[in-house]
Amino acid sequence: MSDRLTVIAIFGVTGDLARRKLIPSLFNNYMKRRLPRELKIVGVGRRDWTDDTLIEHARQSLQEFAAAQFNESDWRHFRSCLSYSKVNLPHTETYQNLKDHLAALENGTSNRLYYLSVAPEFYEDVVMNLGRLDMARENSGDTDSRHDPPWRRIVIEKPFGYDLATAQSLNKAVHAVFAESQVYRIDHYLGKETAQNILFMRFANTIFEPIWNRSHISNVQVTVAETVDVGTRAGYYDKSGVMRDMVQNHLLQLLSLIAMEPPSAFDGHALRNEKVKVLQAARAVRLGDTVRAQYEGYRGANGVPPDSDTPTYAALRLFIDNWRWKDIPFYLRSGKALQSKTTQVNIQFKRPPNSIFELAESGDASRNMLSICIQPDEGMHMTIQAKVPDEQIAKSVDMELHYDDAFMADELPDAYERLILDAINGDAALFIRSDEIESAWRIVDPVIEGWKNDPAAPPMQTYRKGSWGPDAADELLDREEHIWRISCFDEGK
Ligand code: BG6
Repeated sequence: MSDRLTVIAIFGVTGDLARRKLIPSLFNNYMKRRLPRELKIVGVGRRDWTDDTLIEHARQSLQEFAAAQFNESDWRHFRSCLSYSKVNLPHTETYQNLKDHLAALENGTSNRLYYLSVAPEFYEDVVMNLGRLDMARENSGDTDSRHDPPWRRIVIEKPFGYDLATAQSLNKAVHAVFAESQVYRIDHYLGKETAQNILFMRFANTIFEPIWNRSHISNVQVTVAETVDVGTRAGYYDKSGVMRDMVQNHLLQLLSLIAMEPPSAFDGHALRNEKVKVLQAARAVRLGDTVRAQYEGYRGANGVPPDSDTPTYAALRLFIDNWRWKDIPFYLRSGKALQSKTTQVNIQFKRPPNSIFELAESGDASRNMLSICIQPDEGMHMTIQAKVPDEQIAKSVDMELHYDDAFMADELPDAYERLILDAINGDAALFIRSDEIESAWRIVDPVIEGWKNDPAAPPMQTYRKGSWGPDAADELLDREEHIWRISCFDEGK
């Protein structure tokens, strides 16, 4: 680890993400001795805070959200890393405060990570102003050839763009100041242990890859179901809806991990080259292969217009036009206010070509299925057919891996712990490259546009809160005699 000072400047430190995720993740990494020895964390915000206000805010956030045991002696050291700088994001002249603040802390050269945890309308302002004040240049300062040059990196939260055009324009603005190698676009699903495990499962074993294709797999299902409703986030959510909020990023990222070709290495270049190829091979989604719905009562929620046509649920059938996946349906669904919180990928295999046994279940329920349980009750399940004792009949049984049993892991590290660490270590494998972001928008934009303007678009459905969504989503699969499968649950926990 370098001895050079590393400074992390969190724009939007007074916000919810910083309180719930960023400060606790930094602290947990600090306690695990994973952060650089020389570290400063600068909270950047609009409010008239002092260093002490930030320290008190951080202490409260850690007591509420830090997973690891809060520990006074680590906290004493950690708090000495914290300071606050006031910046009014659109106003260039206020960035001089930050520049002076950093210069005073650094007293020479340092590595710097700028973390943008602000409302997306400010992304361009911050980037442009960092550029104007020459705060993104990496080769300033240390010219001693014995050292690695100091780096400047920027982490940008989702949503990255509102559609393809705005994502392209944001990429352009970012690239005017930062090279792509300095940019870390976050999708926190990639930091989840079990999402990363998709890669380990596929490429650290030999048994899955030979059957991971259209010859053996019948269909793939990705479900990201939430029990929470729109809550207090209507202002943001009603402008986004489920396609922008979940599908464009989290679901398509899971899909690309499942469908990608084996990369030659586990690094940002090789991995992302393969992921982007999957997104680029996606066939344009037919509107007839989509379902959109709102939970009952959404239009009456605080801050939601009474005539809102924002979907809180979507289901789609998508195809990847390449040798491995041609004509195999990938079903994606996500929604708020559903029955259970669960994120899972279910891979359904084909039936035996010749059935010689009586089966206890009919149709899809009797297929082999591999379920990757992203959350909660992280793990994997493999459904196989087995002989029922004392009967001549085959029945589905479950071979299960639960992370908490296998790794004695009561609680897995938060996704942000991994991602912050990777950004500091310059490992971009779990971050989204500019071409991936744009390819994902190319998939969802026509659906959103079609829902708005195409008279042939399927009508908005409604669904009961606490249900599994509208019937139309079942009918979407029914056409090919498929059914949504759900297997991973931490029932009773
Ligand atoms: C965020 C969305 O990206 O992901 C939220 O904006 C959603 O609407 C959240 O609730 C879900 O994340 P997780 O980690 O709780 O599954």
